Amino acid sequence: MKKIALITLALLSTNTFAEEADNRRVLSLNEANRHHVLSEMRALLSGTQAILAALANDDMKAVADAAKPLGMGMAHSAENHLHGVLPKEFMMLGKSVHMAFDDIARDAEAVKNPKHTLQQLNQAMGQCNACHSAYQIRVSSASDARLDEVVARGVHVMPFDLEKTVHVFTKVEKGGVQQVIVKDKSDSAQIQLIRQHLAKIAGEFNQGDFSNPVKIHGEDMPGLHALRSAEKGALSIVYKELSDGAQIDYRSEKPALIAAIHQFFDAQLSDHARHAVSGHAQHHQK
Ligand code: HEC
Repeated sequence: MKKIALITLALLSTNTFAEEADNRRVLSLNEANRHHVLSEMRALLSGTQAILAALANDDMKAVADAAKPLGMGMAHSAENHLHGVLPKEFMMLGKSVHMAFDDIARDAEAVKNPKHTLQQLNQAMGQCNACHSAYQIRVSSASDARLDEVVARGVHVMPFDLEKTVHVFTKVEKGGVQQVIVKDKSDSAQIQLIRQHLAKIAGEFNQGDFSNPVKIHGEDMPGLHALRSAEKGALSIVYKELSDGAQIDYRSEKPALIAAIHQFFDAQLSDHARHAVSGHAQHHQK
């Protein structure tokens, strides 16, 4: 009798779930980062259980001992390299949970009131739920993983936000035009950051200094060697402001340098993946 009831229940619940697609925002992580986040999650769950066990024993010292490792110390030791890979709102939610556990640990020793601790735990777990209903983790493909790396390194090199801007690389007969434009044309803060950055690197490129893209794309970037060692005057690099961003125009009369510019563009297009488009696809002209 019991068995039949269970089976019916199982069928019922499968049906309810099957109707809903998983619409939670996808966090695309490589295997190592996924493992990292989920290990921390399991530590949060087992730490929460340890707090409940201690509360059941009226042992407030044990509550504090169980809560402390779940506090900001956990966030600091573990999450540094996840900045830039995980969205800011996600990191903020995580931080508020860690801070809640610091409060639980502190009050367990100072206030020593189990009911108060239960209320705090209830609040903290509301944030577990809030985050779980907003996000899911998927393991990223190789190219996504490469993109994650590019974004993570780009955070330290490019001041503007890769999610709010688009890179457009347009190859032309004598070279190419690199544009960075904002998605939202009223976003003057991003426009400002784009202009500052492109003006700066165009100046560096004119000095033969390509260290900036190398930081993101690596020393073996195609075309790099030829561009770096171009004779004076053989390569023209000109910065220009656009209404919605800025551009750098690369020109040469020398076939070897033109080919190098094209390779340099292809490398950035493939590395920046969904954050960049080829000018042929986009036809953004000013
Ligand atoms: C900032 C967001 C966030 C917060 C806060 C958060 N989690 Fe998670 N948690 C996640 C995500 C994302 C997953 C993966 C969910 C998925 O892919 O379906 C996850 C998965 C888990 C898992 C499954 C682990 C595994 O090995 O599969 C457990 C258990 C868990 N969380 C416990 C907790 C507990 C307990 C709390 C609060 C004390 C908490 N989480 C707070 C984001 C969060």
